[in-house]
Amino acid sequence: MAITVKPLDAPLGAEIIGLDARNITPEDSKTIFDAFLKHHILVLHDQHLTDAELVEFGKCLGPIEKSRFISPLSGRDDIMVISNIREDGKPMGQLPDGEMSFHFDRIHQKQPCRAAALMAIEIPKEGGDTLFSNMVLAYATLPEETKQKLVGKTALNRFTYGATAPDMRDNAGPQCVHPVARTIPQTGEKSLYVCRLMTDHIEGMDPDESRKLIDELCDHAEDPRFVYAHQWKVGDIVVWDNRATMHARTDFSETERRLMKRVTIGDDQPPIP
Ligand code: OGA
Ligand code: MN
Repeated sequence: MAITVKPLDAPLGAEIIGLDARNITPEDSKTIFDAFLKHHILVLHDQHLTDAELVEFGKCLGPIEKSRFISPLSGRDDIMVISNIREDGKPMGQLPDGEMSFHFDRIHQKQPCRAAALMAIEIPKEGGDTLFSNMVLAYATLPEETKQKLVGKTALNRFTYGATAPDMRDNAGPQCVHPVARTIPQTGEKSLYVCRLMTDHIEGMDPDESRKLIDELCDHAEDPRFVYAHQWKVGDIVVWDNRATMHARTDFSETERRLMKRVTIGDDQPPIP
């Protein structure tokens, strides 16, 4: 059966209907990649994949990247477990707790990942939604004067593994300079590439002015008119283009279990202006 791509009633995203993610033909794979470029995030329901099947599915979008941390809940180095489940007080997954500020995954690296696919296995009754902002739309709607100000600008992005809020950034941690607006090679679209969690400063700018501009850009990009909030159901997979979207997470209770598995898809070049 042919699969259907149904745009969400949201500023970005489409649902993929009629697909069993365990069984993907080369035609499906092309449909998925084209929809990914066009809609920036993809939502699939009722998928209950094994780790190996999730990794196979991820290959529709590009080469698989390894996880830094192997979780006992998977045992594989190509699956990132995101969970608050603890054993003897020790987290069994990454990003265990609560709210997370908006960020791009691995923006502190020279060649950040292209995409990720996250699957829900256990979810809290309330909260723990993932928010996605359309950074192509955010860039396009900036005042012309601001766009001009961003021409040729680069920013330093920092990370502490496990950081979920800007005040957890580590000045000595891994860091990388990237363009403030990047072009997505396959579409030629421009995307705003700064975020609350990880962007530290704009290079060559007065520190106060830089902070003011980053805050202004983040306030703009986090506006609900660019954001889709995904409320998870078990068996959902959400794929995001990590170049054209940033994401955040709403709070949830530490007394409830949340278990997600992620496959990360690498890119073939660093961000270009
Ligand atoms: C991630 C991430 C958000 C979530 O996997 O990179 O930010 O909802 N996850 O757990
Ligand atoms: Mn993330």
